[in-house]
Amino acid sequence: MPKIVGAETLAPDINKIVVEAPQIASKASAGQFVVLRVDEQGERIPLTIFDWDSGEGTIDLVFLKVGTSTQKLGRLKAGDTLADILGPLGKPFPVKKYGKIACVGGGLGIPAIHPIARAMRQAGNEVVSVVGARTRQLMILSDEMSCASDSLLMCSDDGSCGVKGFVTNVLTDVLDDLDLVVAVGPVKMMEAVAELTRNKADTIVSLNPVMVDGTGMCGACRVKVGGQVKFACVDGPDFNAHQVDFKELWNKNNQYVESERHSMKCWGRGND
Ligand SMILES: Cc1cc2nc3c(=O)[nH]c(=O)nc-3n(C[C@H](O)[C@H](O)[C@H](O)COP(=O)(O)OP(=O)(O)OC[C@H]3O[C@@H](n4cnc5c(N)ncnc54)[C@H](O)[C@@H]3O)c2cc1C
Ligand code: FES
Repeated sequence: MPKIVGAETLAPDINKIVVEAPQIASKASAGQFVVLRVDEQGERIPLTIFDWDSGEGTIDLVFLKVGTSTQKLGRLKAGDTLADILGPLGKPFPVKKYGKIACVGGGLGIPAIHPIARAMRQAGNEVVSVVGARTRQLMILSDEMSCASDSLLMCSDDGSCGVKGFVTNVLTDVLDDLDLVVAVGPVKMMEAVAELTRNKADTIVSLNPVMVDGTGMCGACRVKVGGQVKFACVDGPDFNAHQVDFKELWNKNNQYVESERHSMKCWGRGND
């Protein structure tokens, strides 16, 4: 069973774990993810591979404790094990030389944009990273993002860290001479970035529909891109932002809110 070899809290409700997974670490590329189960009874949850070390045979995952499975995951310590972990899944991000690019990460999109920014810089692009969080406390991984970028621009909703405002406010100021924009974060943020860059810069977003198997078998992650049905787990997760049907994605992601609340309530009762 995959063993956790490191666990730390990065911010309130945001944790990082290091998992022994040599086969995944030897094949991982920027933009890929894993699907794991915390225990035999648990659901499968997808998490982006934030970092990996093929020498040590480990992968790093950063997650927000948002519901039952991520709360359970957040309780594990070094030495504990997961039921199983599958990956690397999804297509690697199309890393090549584009020129000057912006890597935009909002909230838990920051750990997902980090390996993409790093790989794009290594490929010879000039990388301007734009990261946003609600408050300074929730601004995670700024040292790592700084190392992965030529320049790092930060913003927060309340102005406690960087510019006061959203990532789209900051992106507006640098949009003129960009060859590509890559954005990862909440659906509404990616939709706003897509609207801002339409007819101005090619834009790729990494989609986060609900996933179950992560291998193209169950159909749970169906999204509409350019009028066609795609499975985000095998056809993505990266897609042309200007062709994504964000409204449908938003509605689908909110379909399970009631059952997720119920699951959290039942689990909470047993863990008070
Ligand atoms: C490709 C991909 C990569 C992701 N990477 C990260 C990451 O690096 N860090 C991180 O914190 N989160 C990431 N997520 C979201 C993460 O999978 C969910 O937060 C997690 O599954 C929530 O499970 P839960 O039981 O704790 O919460 P629940 O109460 O079950 O759900 C809370 C919310 O999480 C989302 N969600 C629930 N189940 C799933 C599922 N099976 N698949 C996708 N989303 C779900 C829904 O929006 C839901 O409303 C990623 C999602 C995808 C699709
Ligand atoms: S998660 Fe099952 S098809 Fe994509």
